[in-house]
Amino acid sequence: MTLGRLNHVGVATPSIARSIETYRLLLGADRVGAPFDLPAQGVKVCFIDAPNTQIELIEPYDESSPIAGFLRKNPAGGQHHVCFEVADIHAAVAHLKANGATVLGEPRIGAHGTPIVFVHPRDFGGMLVELMEAPAEAH
Ligand code: CO
Repeated sequence: MTLGRLNHVGVATPSIARSIETYRLLLGADRVGAPFDLPAQGVKVCFIDAPNTQIELIEPYDESSPIAGFLRKNPAGGQHHVCFEVADIHAAVAHLKANGATVLGEPRIGAHGTPIVFVHPRDFGGMLVELMEAPAEAH
């Protein structure tokens, strides 16, 4: 288990469209992907490219989405998770569990089409951590 690149920072928002406008206007974001639906996770997402990482904007589909609960506590949205790359998601999960961490569910296919898994915020000082399998040669 070796810590890989910071792949993206997940940001919950009540409106991807308004967030895109903000990133364009205030930060000069000029590489904004097309928003798309992730029905299995009850969210719409949109990636904004920065030179060294991405911002993942996440908007709930409806009130049953896990992100909807986050927005009830943080109505304007906010930073939701950070995503680090790992070479082997199953090895990472085994390593985390062997060291007492709480892995949330089983690895599943995430917004980049590769396996991802989340680790409980209590293991990282209140920060929700996503791990994403990504071969090192992809960069
Ligand atoms: Co993410």
